[in-house]
Amino acid sequence: MRILTGIQPSGIPHIGNYFGAIRQTAAMQTKGDNFLFIADYHALTTSPKPEDLRNYINDLALSWLACGIDPERTIFFRQSDVPQVCELAWILATFTPVGLMERAHSYKDKVAKGFEANCGLFTYPILMAADILLYRADLVPVGKDQKQHLEIARDLAIRFNNHFGDILTVPEELIPEEVAVVPGIDGQKMSKSYNNTIPIFAKEKALRKVVMSIVTDSKGLEEPKDPDTCNVYALYKLVATPEELQEMREKLQAGNYGYGHAKQALFEKLWAFFEPMRKRREELENNMDFVRDLMKRNAEKARCEAEILLTKVRQAVGLR
Ligand code: ADP
Ligand code: TRP
Repeated sequence: MRILTGIQPSGIPHIGNYFGAIRQTAAMQTKGDNFLFIADYHALTTSPKPEDLRNYINDLALSWLACGIDPERTIFFRQSDVPQVCELAWILATFTPVGLMERAHSYKDKVAKGFEANCGLFTYPILMAADILLYRADLVPVGKDQKQHLEIARDLAIRFNNHFGDILTVPEELIPEEVAVVPGIDGQKMSKSYNNTIPIFAKEKALRKVVMSIVTDSKGLEEPKDPDTCNVYALYKLVATPEELQEMREKLQAGNYGYGHAKQALFEKLWAFFEPMRKRREELENNMDFVRDLMKRNAEKARCEAEILLTKVRQAVGLR
């Protein structure tokens, strides 16, 4: 079974990325053959400053490796190191109905928020489908926000196969329910674009500050509180053991336990949870040549894979 996912280098990685995507990907390394890439072509749709883009790419490479991606088990590369993906995206675009793109939430939401849409943003799901189909992925671990993109990838694979025979692998999504939407510090979905994230690699003081700024209702210390509507509790679920979770639940319900106490408990768990990853990241930071070399070797493997599929696709559509 082949597992693939990508992540955009569009900001500092946060715990929503970790629990929504990175952790599953790392855990799956023993289960199948794995592809993971930094979606830098996709990040261009947000028109980043070149310097920022370069920094985010490096940052993401370090972060994923630190979070347990093993380059011996996972082909970990940069999307733009395999430009063949653009060729497949073009071919897929030629039989993608415009209406299918117009219905894509990612585009609609950004336009609704007042972002100026470029054609790259509009056709974003086609490039994403190409990412998935180029490497013949069976399973794609992502967060819930990517569900529609996965449906589009499936749709395009099926359309292509109906025309040209059984060439593309129709992928399945993997969206674990319990981490489908990690809430941000304001209670909305955690996202780089909403400025509400808890960065995985924040320094101690900064992490404490961000945890203390999590939005709660205004119930006083002595009042009983509802864990199921408490943002701090929702985040605590991700890092606490079942016993610790039950304990916080009871304390909140009993009263005389303030949100400040809950935040302190959350901070401590988060800090401890990401400790080994922080250590690993520091080691890697001091060894950037190793990281660059590793990405280069992995890109070579990805290009070989890409050529296998593209040869078939070119042949099928009549380009060869
Ligand atoms: P962001 O919304 O911060 O820009 P990305 O779009 O780069 O995040 O997402 C990278 C991966 O992390 C995707 O698989 C996405 O579904 C997952 N992800 C992002 N935010 C969350 C979240 N709040 N909860 C669960 N998964 C998330
Ligand atoms: N669109 C994804 C996101 O914003 C990133 C991505 C690009 C991706 N290509 C992909 C995810 C292919 C999975 C598979 O999170």
